[in-house]
Parts: sequence; structure tokens; C-alpha cells
Amino acid sequence: MSSATSSVARVAYLASDVIVDSQPTLPSTSQFAKVYSSLSATSSRRPKILSVPLGGDPGSTLLRNGSDAGLISFTSSAAAQTVIRLVLNAAELSSLPLVLHLAVKDDLSEVLLLHSAVPFFLVSRTPQQAHDNSLLASRLARTEKKAVVHAFYDAKNDSVEEIPESEVQPFLLSEKLVSTNGVNGHNGSNGHNGHANGRNGYANGHNGHANGANGTNGVNDHSANVVSPGSELFKLYERAALSTVVRIRRACPPLSVHGSSEPHTVIFGLGDIPSVDIDGVSVVSLNLLTPLLPSRILDVIPPFASRVIILEQLHRWNTKWTPLYLELVNAIHQREVEQRPHIQSVYFSDPAQVIPLAILKLLQAAPSSVPIQLGGTSASSLLSLEVPHIPKHESSYTKILSHVFGERLEVSNSPALVLKQGAIATSPEFALGRVRGQLDQRNELIRSVQKLLEVKEVSPELHKLCSQWVLIKDDDTKSCSVGKELITALESSKLSSPIIDRILALRAHFPARSRWIIGSDAWSYDLGASGLHHAIASGLDINILIIDTLPYTSRNSADPHRRKQDAGLYAMNHGDVYVASVAVYSSYAQVLQAVMEADRHKGPSVVLAYLPYQNEDAPALEVLKETKLAVDAGYWPLYRWDPVKEAQGKEPFALDSDSVKNDLQQFLDRQNHLSQLVRSKPELATELVSSLGENVKEARRKKAQQAYDDLVVSLDAPPLVVLYASDGGTAEKFAKRLANRGKARGLSTSIGTIDSMSIDTLSQEEYVAFVTSVAGQGEPPQNGRTLFKALNAAALRGEKPFSKLRYSVFALGDSHYWPRPEDAHYYNKPGKDLDARLEQLGGERFADIGLGDDQDADGPDTGYKVWEPLVWKTFGVDSIEVKEAEPDPITNEHIKAASGYLRGTIAEGLEDVSTGALDPSDTQLTKFHGIYQQDDRDIRDERQAQGVEPAYSFMIRVRTPGGVCTPEQWLQMDRIADEHGNGTFKITTRATFQFHGVIKRHLKPSIQEINKVLLDTLAACGDVNRNVICSAIPSLSRLHAQVYGFAKLVSAHLLPRTTAYHEIWLDKKMVAGEAVKDFEPLYGEFYLPRKFKIAVAVPPTNDVDVFANDLGFIAIVDEQGELAGFNVTIGGGMGVTHGNKKTYPRVADVIGFCTVEQGPIVAEKVMLTQRDNGNRADRKNARLKYTIDRMGLDAFKAEVESRLGYTLTPARPYTFDRNIDDFGWSTGDDGRHHVMLFIENGRIQDEPERDFKTGLREIAKIHKGTFRLTANQHIMISEISTEDVSEIKRILAKYKLDNLNHTGLRLSSSACVAFPTCGLAMAESERYLPVLIDKVEKICEENGLRNDSIVMRMTGCPNGCARPYVAEVAFVGKAPGSYSMLLGGGYYGQRLNKIYRETVSEPEILAILRPMIKRYALERIDGEHFGDFVIRAGYIAPTTSGKEWYDGMGGEGQYREAAAAA
Ligand SMILES: Cc1cc2nc3c(=O)[nH]c(=O)nc-3n(C[C@H](O)[C@H](O)[C@H](O)COP(=O)(O)O)c2cc1C
Ligand code: SF4
Repeated sequence: MSSATSSVARVAYLASDVIVDSQPTLPSTSQFAKVYSSLSATSSRRPKILSVPLGGDPGSTLLRNGSDAGLISFTSSAAAQTVIRLVLNAAELSSLPLVLHLAVKDDLSEVLLLHSAVPFFLVSRTPQQAHDNSLLASRLARTEKKAVVHAFYDAKNDSVEEIPESEVQPFLLSEKLVSTNGVNGHNGSNGHNGHANGRNGYANGHNGHANGANGTNGVNDHSANVVSPGSELFKLYERAALSTVVRIRRACPPLSVHGSSEPHTVIFGLGDIPSVDIDGVSVVSLNLLTPLLPSRILDVIPPFASRVIILEQLHRWNTKWTPLYLELVNAIHQREVEQRPHIQSVYFSDPAQVIPLAILKLLQAAPSSVPIQLGGTSASSLLSLEVPHIPKHESSYTKILSHVFGERLEVSNSPALVLKQGAIATSPEFALGRVRGQLDQRNELIRSVQKLLEVKEVSPELHKLCSQWVLIKDDDTKSCSVGKELITALESSKLSSPIIDRILALRAHFPARSRWIIGSDAWSYDLGASGLHHAIASGLDINILIIDTLPYTSRNSADPHRRKQDAGLYAMNHGDVYVASVAVYSSYAQVLQAVMEADRHKGPSVVLAYLPYQNEDAPALEVLKETKLAVDAGYWPLYRWDPVKEAQGKEPFALDSDSVKNDLQQFLDRQNHLSQLVRSKPELATELVSSLGENVKEARRKKAQQAYDDLVVSLDAPPLVVLYASDGGTAEKFAKRLANRGKARGLSTSIGTIDSMSIDTLSQEEYVAFVTSVAGQGEPPQNGRTLFKALNAAALRGEKPFSKLRYSVFALGDSHYWPRPEDAHYYNKPGKDLDARLEQLGGERFADIGLGDDQDADGPDTGYKVWEPLVWKTFGVDSIEVKEAEPDPITNEHIKAASGYLRGTIAEGLEDVSTGALDPSDTQLTKFHGIYQQDDRDIRDERQAQGVEPAYSFMIRVRTPGGVCTPEQWLQMDRIADEHGNGTFKITTRATFQFHGVIKRHLKPSIQEINKVLLDTLAACGDVNRNVICSAIPSLSRLHAQVYGFAKLVSAHLLPRTTAYHEIWLDKKMVAGEAVKDFEPLYGEFYLPRKFKIAVAVPPTNDVDVFANDLGFIAIVDEQGELAGFNVTIGGGMGVTHGNKKTYPRVADVIGFCTVEQGPIVAEKVMLTQRDNGNRADRKNARLKYTIDRMGLDAFKAEVESRLGYTLTPARPYTFDRNIDDFGWSTGDDGRHHVMLFIENGRIQDEPERDFKTGLREIAKIHKGTFRLTANQHIMISEISTEDVSEIKRILAKYKLDNLNHTGLRLSSSACVAFPTCGLAMAESERYLPVLIDKVEKICEENGLRNDSIVMRMTGCPNGCARPYVAEVAFVGKAPGSYSMLLGGGYYGQRLNKIYRETVSEPEILAILRPMIKRYALERIDGEHFGDFVIRAGYIAPTTSGKEWYDGMGGEGQYREAAAAA
């Protein structure tokens, strides 16, 4: 009689060169060790035997000793700690000649964790099988150099026929036998039936089908064509099994079948299952668990079987479905629907429960969608969710975490905390705060224990425990056990000390916890707002698990307007974050590996976990199918990224899913995720990426052009290639200038973007001049990033491809863009890096790098003038006198003049279906038609990586003079947004509608539909007079009617007269059959130098910010309440360019009074004076504000008056007291009612709990008055009759549109659109301001300022669409997460603010505002506004005029000097 353990140990001893034996905890001793020691007395073999303690790391011992051994065996009980350690190293272990013999008692839960983590997995139930499989496993591992798990039941004793010692080595070393029939041929010998006979089994044989042979509908076709890794491994198994059978003369089938030969039910058994004889039931015992081929499974399930039961011996399984269940589901799914049996998962723990009666009961019960526990309770109770809030399926992951980390697990945003802390408890910010607090406390505990070590009276025993804990405080298990001992010792210590008290108070922090934040992919839509960014960027030792539930097949029907960002890629870009992408239904082992690696990583880790399901009731089969599709298609790759490995010079990136590895091309073609992923691994993909699509075309075009140039320029000088990278166009302008001048000197020059070159093409060039600017913090501009990355990757690999290349770099930057001394290295970083990198790669500099600085007297020109002559010198053409004038660069002025009154080639461009874009010069013209070309910036990088053009779409802005529209017009706008746009629309700061996401072919229908309701988009953008805005003034109905009429009149008077708009968009014929040319009486063919904006304000409200407009009319009412006329204001404007002190904001000056009748002509003359005097050479200096400052206010006014033919009378008194909207209900002087709604930043959309879009549509359906859009981006429902008030109120309440319970700060806030659509955005605005306000309003509330209005505005760039420069507090985007902060604007828009800090991020903003707001609350004078207070309190100097805007700004002084010195 032998036990299975002794048989296994004997084979291991005789077969292996090295044995690693796991020792149980004392006082027990290893059962294997006993056999080894007795064999060492009798046997001639002397394998090296190593021991590892339980809880130790056998993986590393095996790895250290396994690579040189012919065979290494590991013997152990299947304890959880041991198995988990093995899983962690499974990838490396898999390629060792290794057998992992794991003794199982009555539960396979632990050992199954290794399923699919290693190539082979065998199971033995009897001692004889254990012996035979030990041999088979040893042979397989040795000959194929692959790891084999051998799980065996060790409890039983039985007589075992053992192989003689002398035959073991010859068996292992004998020639490989070639399998012809497969080992299943031996199944026949078990005599029960023949249906497991491989290809003759049920899969092919039961041909009730018309075509006979094709019994299982194409599954076999499939397997014939595709050689899966599983079937290759299976062949290796078969070979080893055949050799074993030959030697031992006993069958070693992968699975064996007993029972009925025509079964209606097939039971797959895994574990110690007694024989069950029930009529119509066959039992399949699995001996080989991995690889388990679907065809083998199907072989033993006849097509007429109606049910499959999977019976597994499991006590503590943690996910809903087991690997075997999933494999069976997968296999069965390959059959046609009508041939698929029901599958039931059943667990049992005691073999005594597996009795015929219990099986019969199972057969009689209806199939259940949850696993059933044999012998009583439903197995789903094992999986019951402690926390009801967690969606059912997601517990798959949470259970894994609790299983792996046990009591060390700390879910920092556990829903259980909601009870105590409220809903916020599940947010990442909350969790982060908790973690920070806990880590601080743990640090305090460590310090306290260290302090205790210094206390003399401490007993030696306590001292020892303290020092021991300090040493192992970061160890997973020991920190906990030693901690417990230490607590006991402290509690029983007689010593009384406050340190001990403190330590005991902090006792919870003794164990080294595994801290997790768990969330959904909803967090990925806005990384900043969700707080995920902060967690990733925190640097804390925290693990983030993000569960993505979007099924693969629904990926395109997800809300297209909410773009999910790739949190993984985002995290990888941080450099110090561990990132993994996992899917529990695809690879359980990989999930385990990832979570353990994440836990080990000292710093933030992000694990993206895939779990696709539509709803809680989705069957597992669906989840499995979706997972399989997603992983196989490469949509959800499995990978792990470990930055620590990178630092060690190892490969940091492990791609764990096969299909992706095998099919890189497909991988690159996929949308989201994958291409981004490739980009994150530049050495793998950059060259591939840059050889795709547009870049190649551009490179070819360039080559063709160059060949042509070579022909026509008969000059000996070598060709000069000019390559540039530019975001804003400045570097491009310099590059073009260089290329033109080169041509003028007779050189053969060509020009392209830096990304038009790959390393290969660049290495063919001889002379290249690079011109690059900087975008973001020291980053290269968009059109240079791919090559920059490729160069870095090549440098890392130590390549030298540029032996032929001679180069020079001109860099453009701004030494003051990031003014803090520690940021000085960002100055011209890409240019400097490029210069160094090219040299490193073998290039030779033909001229030193030139540095252009926006801060220099002439901006970048100063540096360029020094650098350019060096280029000509190199080519020997410096002495050539250039006689011909250089061709002028094409400017907007040329485009306008050549456009045929705004026609250009727009009509042709609309017909061109090969691109989603219009010609670049046409995009300048469409602005005059109210249409802006944009692209989705969230996915710009991603699309570039794939070599496809950006995701172009168009923004359409409607012209609604005075901001008024009818309900019919509203309904039409609502429809257009749905049918042609992105489903939402925005009320803009010019009180009109704006649609985003309209693709090219929807442009024309959209404009036509806008026209159908008598609105248009003409001149809503462009170098013309834009939408004229006017005050909403709800209570002054008659006055409103007058000023609104005036606004419409002025708008109509200044409208362009071109018929191009009607011709292009409304299919109207060209004027007079093309005989008469268009004519622009006001604008001429050049139109205005820049945009022109007009506002009409009615004191005391300045809700239109009249002083921020080029031209303003302030209504003056006479004593009878009649509109007497207007004070005229000129010269307001917001746009600025960061760092360019020639640009500044300006508030308008009041120049006199005009009557209502004079108004439109006054407007015309002011506009014409600007038309003729504005700066057309420099668009950055072209607005009216600069013209006035250049000419002088008096001279400008005099010219206006001379055009008018009279002088304006003196301005009349007026008083403003606010520039915010009057929210809530009011009644006009005509008895009709109005209600001003708060629409945060003007976005009309449906959101959970706030279906504003639907609500407003419902109102529009019944409303008989009008809507007024305000310049603060809110909406007034106006002119409501008394009888309709209650119905409107009802609808408002139903859709929560009547909620005005916001803080004064929020009600006074305003943000522009910015990301993702605005092409000029440098930072978030509309998506971020509400989040910032959440935080600042807390500070206000703490200081009792809940209802105090503070005007806070934000824009994504210095263009200033939300009029930030007249806000009391403003933030102007500089780069993602960075803003200029401005303070001191006048409360009613009468005074400019000033830059207080040139660069701030959120923590700095809050740190600045907290004490400032507190002081304001305590020290303000009665009625004093915040903008006035910050000036009085000395925080900021007042700005008295635009030209003095930079004087005395914050961030000068120390910062400026330090930056300049750096
Ligand atoms: C968002 C943004 C970030 C910038 N960051 C830097 C920087 O980090 N370092 C620097 O030297 N210049 C920086 N600049 C300045 C520009 O590089 C400089 O103005 C350049 O002339 C712009 O060239 P471009 O129009 O070709 O993009 C930045 C400019 C912008 C708009
Ligand atoms: S301020 Fe700048 S970022 Fe914001 S919408 Fe205007 S142009 Fe775009």
C-alpha cells in the first residue's frame, strides 16, 4: 500500500535534478521530505533538494534553480499562500522544465488558481493515477521544457504499481514517440463505450444533418484552419502520454467517460467523485484540465444530450464561474443553438454528497443560472454580496481582492462607508483623502515605535519585538503577525508611557495594508473631474481598480458625445504608475498576477478590469462571449506595465493576450485603447505608426516635389529640407520663410512637418534644418511628436542611423511662459532636446542651435536673425544678393480678397467625400458663415497614431440678435442638435445657440433647417460684426422691446451683403445669373481686419458686459421712462496672447451720447473707421482696441464724427450695479411673467437627474411667449401669461429646472467651451470650472459667504470668450491643469483685473483663495465687492487702462528674475 504523496515524492526524487519542497508550519513536517530522506539512504540518485518555508516565495527559488536543471520539481500542499506566489511568477515559470506537484485534500479552489497560468494541468484522484501522472508530467516537462501542474488527492492509500527506479531515467530520456492515433485510442480499453474516440466521437459522428460530416456546424472547419496554441500544446501532451502508456501499460487519457452510452445528461466531474450509475447519465472525469480542447469536450457530449452538469469539488471559490465552466460554455457555444444543452454548475465539498439521489434531484430541478451547492444551500450564497450596492457581476473582482489580500485589504472607497460618510465616500477624492490620512497615521505609528526603542525602561522582549516590527513593517504577512504580538506585549507591559498609549491608539495600522480604490469606467470620461487624475498623480502607494462594463458589441452605441479617455495610457504617461489591463473571464491567472504586482508596486497602480455586461441579469455566457470577442479582437488587450522594471533596464511591458501579439496590423487598426497603447511603447510601434497613412502620403508628396525641384534647379548645392513642428503657426511661418529664402538663393529646398519624416526617410537626407516651437510644458507641438518619440526610442536602443545627416535646429519658445525658477528647463526644451538627440544618433550639426524667445525685443525674430545667416554660410550662399522680393506668406487678408465675397471653394469642398475637412483657406471663410472647423482633441493623438485624419466636425453658431427666439425656433434648434450635431447645444457668451460635432455632410441640411425657422448663421463668426447682444431686463417690458428692436436693426444694418451664403447653403442661384458681381457696400472685399462685437446694455444691469465690446450702447431713459438714446462706448476687447505684451485686454471708453435713430449709423461709422485704420498686417494687433490706442481716443472719435458729419453730444449719467443675471421669477410692466433659469455654462443637455434639454423642449411645446438667451449663458423664459404660469412652474419643477439653490459664487460664474472641441483651448474650462467651484464654494460657505456673489470666470485660452478679464477672479488656461490667475476686476464689469499668478494649478488656487476669502469675510467694508477688496487689501494693483495691464502684475519680482537667470 502506498499513499499518493509517497508515490509522487518517489517519482519526483528519481526524475528530478532539483527538488524544491515547501515546508508546512512547525511542528508539522513535510510528507515529501520524509520520502526524500528515506530514498537518499537507498537510491543512487542525489537530486539537489531545497526547502522553502510556507509563506516564503517558492517562485524565485524555482526560477533561480530551474534554468540549468534537466527537470525541477516542486512539492507542496496546495495552500493558498503557496499557490498565489506561484501565480505571481507563472509567466516566467511556464518556460522551465518544471513539475509543480500539489497535494489537494478535499478542495480544488486553491489549485485552480493556476489553471491557464501554466501550459499543462493534470489532475489525479487515485494513488495509481498520481504515480502515472507524475511520470507523465516529468517526461512532458523535461522533453518540452514547459511547466506542468500536477494536482493530486493525497488522502488515500491504495496498492500502487510503481515503476522500477532503474527505468525512470531511461524513460525520461527515451526518444519521443510520434502519436498517430492519439492516446484516446486507449480509451476504448476502458470498455464502457466508444464515444470519446477523438475524431470519431459525437463532434463529427452524429450526422443527422443533411451534409452528414458536418455534425457540429463549422466548428471543425474552424479548428482545421486555425491552429490554436491549445491544440499545439495538446499534441505535446499526447506525445508524452503515448511514451508513458508504452512504458507503464496503463491508459493515461485526458478524460475518461463512464455510464450511459446514449446520455441525455453529461456530468463533467472535477475532484474526488464516486462513480454514479444513473440511467441516461454519463460521467466524464477530467484528468487533463489544461489544455482542454473544445473539440474534445464536444466529442463526449452527444448532440441529443439536453443537459451538462459541471460538478466540481470546491469550498471557497471566489468568482461566480469556474474556469472549467467557462471552457465548457465556450465549447458548447460553438454548436448550433438547437444542439446546445443547458449547462449547470454544481459545487460540492464532501464526496459523500455525490449520491445518485442528489444527482437525480439535480436532474429534476429546473436549470439555474447560478451555481448550486450539492447537498443543500445554493452556491450563490457562497458568493453573496456583503455590500448590496456593488453590481452583482463586479463582485468577481472584489472577491478576488479579498481572497488575495485577506485582512490586509482596505477598500478605501468601500460603499459600506456611505452609511457613515454619505455618497461622497465612493469617490476617488474621498478615498485619496482617507489614504493620505491613514498613511500619515502609519508614519506616526512607525515614528512612535522607533521612539519607544529609545526609552530605557523598555523590557528586552518588547524592545526586540519593536525593532523586529520596524524591520518587517512593509512585509505583507509578517507586519501583521509581529504587529499582533507587539500589541499583546504592549497591552501586558507594566510600563506606562504616552508613547505606548499612542501606539495602541494607532494599532490598526500595524499590518501593511493593500489599499484599493474601486470604481467604474465612468471615471474615465473626465479624468480631472472624477478625481482619478489626482489619485494617479498623487504618488501615494494606492491601487486603483477601474471596472469597465461596456460590452464590446455595444461599444459603438455608447454615448458618442462622452469620450472615454484611456486611463491606462494616461497613467502610463505619469512614468511611475503600475498599469495593467485585465479580464477575469479571459485570464483569471493574469488578474491575480496583476493585482499582486499592483499591490507590490510602491506607488500608484491602475488596474483596468474588463467585465462586459448590459445589466445585472446578463447571463455569464454573455459576459464570457463579450470578453472573448473584446480580447480576441484586440479591443481589450491584456497587458501589464511595470515602470520599476523599466528603471532596472528590463522590459516594462508585457502583452498577455495572444491575438494581439499575433496580429499587430489589426492591433494598429483598432480605434481607442490599442493604438494608444502602441504609442506608449514607442520602440515597438512608432516606426510602424509613422509609416502609415497620411504621413507616408505626405512623405511621398515631398519626395516627388523634391525630385521635381532637383530637375529644375540646376545648382550644385545640396538640397535643403526644412522640417517644422508648430501648434500655433509661428514656427511654421519661420520655417516657410527659411524655405522661401533658400529658394530665392537658388537652393533646392523642400518643406514639411517633422512628422512627415520617419527615421528611415530622415536618414536618407543630407541637410535638414529643423524649426520647432513648444506646446504644453516643454512638449513638442502635435505635428512633431511622432518623430520625436521615434528618435528617443532609437537613442535608447543606441542606434546611429544618421551617419549622412547634417542638421541645425531653430527653436521657438518663451522663457517666461512658465515663470517659476524650477520650470526654467521647459524653455525651448523640444528644440534643445532635438539638437542633442540628433547628435547622439550620429548626425552632424552644421550650425549651432538658434533660440527664439517671445520675450526678446522682436520676439523670436531676434534669435532668428542670428541663426539664419549661419544656414546660408553652410551652403556658401550667404553672399548671394537676393534681388527678388520674397513671396508674401498667404494671410487671411489674401484669403478674403481672393474668396469672391466669401465663396472660396467651400461648395466644392462640401462635395469632396474623401475627407471630413474643408480646404484650410475655406475654413477661414466658413467662419463668416458662422461655421468653424474643429476636431475632437480628446482623440487627436490617437488618430494621428493610427495615421488617419483628425475627427473633423464643425461648430455652427446661429445669429440671434438680442438673444431672443420663439418656441418654434427653440424646438428646431433642439431637433438640429439631435439630428445633425452631438445631441447637445450651448448658449454662448454672445447670447446665441452653438452646435458642436456637425460632420461635413450634415452642414448643409443643418443650415437649411436653421433657415426654415427664419434664423441664420451669417456673420456669427469671422472678421465682421458678430451677433449683437442686449440686456434681458425682464421687468422693463416696453424698454426691452425697444432695445431689442434696436439690436436687430443694428445687426441687420451691418450684415454682409454677399449672396455667397444663400448660394452655398440654400442652393439659391448666383445673383442675376452670374452677370452681376457681388458687392459689399460696408465691408469691401477685405472685410474687417478682425472681429467686431456690439452690445446694448440697460442700466443698472450690465449683464452684457458692455465694456468688453468693441462698440457699446448704454441705454439712457428719460424722466418719463422712455428710451432717450444711448451713451456710446468704444474700444473694449478681451483677446490676449500669453507672453506677448503687445496684446492686452481693454475696457471701452464712453465717447458721447447719440439718439436711437442715430445709433445704427454711429455703429456703421465706428466700424468703418476701424475697417480703414485697423492693423491688417498683424492679426494679433488688429482689434479696435489697439487701433484706438494707436490713434489716440480723441483722434479716433474725431474721425468717427467727421464720417458722421456731426459731433456726439456729451455722455449722460448712468449707473451700473451688476453684470450677472437676475435669476428667478419676475413680472414685467405689461403684467406678463418671466423666469430666469440657471444653466451652468449654457450647456443644454440631458444628464442623470437633470433632463434640462427635455424639460426645455416640453416648455417650448406649450409656451406662447419667447426665450431670451443671455450673454452670461443662461435662459429666460419670457412673456408668460398669468394663466400659463402654473403649468410652466410644473414643468420646471418636474425637470429640476427651477433649482436656483446655488451659491452666489456659482450663480455668478461663467466658462467658455474649451476642450474637447475648441481648437484654441490650452486647458479645460466648461468641464472643469464647475468642479473647481465645488471646492471654492466650500471655502465661501465656511466663511459665511454662501449667498455672496463673486464673479468668477474661466477660459481655456487667453482669447477670453467668457470675458475673464473683467471678472473679479479669473482663470485663463495655459496648459492642461495650468492657468493664469487674475484678480481685481470690477463687480459690474467696469474695471479690468490683473494677473496675480502666471501659473497655478488647483492646489495652488485653493491655497491662495482660502485665506483671501477668509479675510474678505472678516474685513470687508459693508457692500464691498471681492474685486474691490483684493485691491484695498493690497493683493493686487488696480488696472486703470488696458495698456497698463501688465504693470505691477503678480509673478514679476522674484520669479521673473530667477527665471531669466536660469
Ligand atoms: C500652451 C502653450 C505652452 C507653451 N509652453 C512653452 C514651454 O514650455 N516652453 C517654452 O519655451 N515656450 C512655451 N510656449 C511658447 C511657445 O512655444 C511660443 O509662443 C512659440 O512661438 C509658439 O509657436 P507656435 O505658434 O509655432 O506653436 C508655450 C505656448 C503655449 C501656447
Ligand atoms: S476662450 Fe479660448 S478656449 Fe475658450 S472658447 Fe474661446 S477660443 Fe476656445
